[in-house]
Amino acid sequence: MYEGEIASVLVTEQQIQDKINELAKQIAADYARDGVTGDLLLVGVLKGAVMFMTDFARALPIPAQLEFMAVSSYGSATSSSGVVRILKDLDRDIAGKHVLIVEDIVDSGLTLSWLLKNLASRNPASLEVCSLLRKPEAVKVDVPVKYVGFDIPNEFVVGYGLDYAERYRDLPYIGTLDPKVYSS
Ligand code: PRP
Ligand code: MN
Ligand code: MG
Repeated sequence: MYEGEIASVLVTEQQIQDKINELAKQIAADYARDGVTGDLLLVGVLKGAVMFMTDFARALPIPAQLEFMAVSSYGSATSSSGVVRILKDLDRDIAGKHVLIVEDIVDSGLTLSWLLKNLASRNPASLEVCSLLRKPEAVKVDVPVKYVGFDIPNEFVVGYGLDYAERYRDLPYIGTLDPKVYSS
């Protein structure tokens, strides 16, 4: 699939699934330790986090409810504009809930920084972030991300929810895009 468009595989399907199981166990243990009894509220950030959200929710050994928010900062460009738009808001009030934002990637951090402020103002009981990927070299604004799957180099990556111009989200692994794809 996508013959000649993927330059390399950065994180394999197996590595993703192993990491998800590890994160799910750790996160369940942390919430149990903190005495959280009610269901966790996962807020998946559409569209990038959709694959991670569904795999993570199924791996999590404690009950969790699913909500989605859609925000967009990139359009079809490969670098962040810093402009965040709400395309779809949550369907309900999160006041008093234990909220865990589920993201695919922290790149510049602008999306999450904005989202954390936005959700914090709705008075959840707790608010944390779990991101599958993070690019430490690309961070423009410092965001408190409690759970990170993989720190990756500052290269443009696609797959497992991450797109370039809406393509490649359906790959089961994370790969780097051949530069010819976005230079043409
Ligand atoms: C991507 C990605 C993160 C965000 C990270 O989403 O899924 O949500 O950018 O970038 P940042 O840290 O520089 O803000 P995008 O806006 O492309 O929307 P999408 O999830 O629908 O692809
Ligand atoms: Mn996204
Ligand atoms: Mg995108």
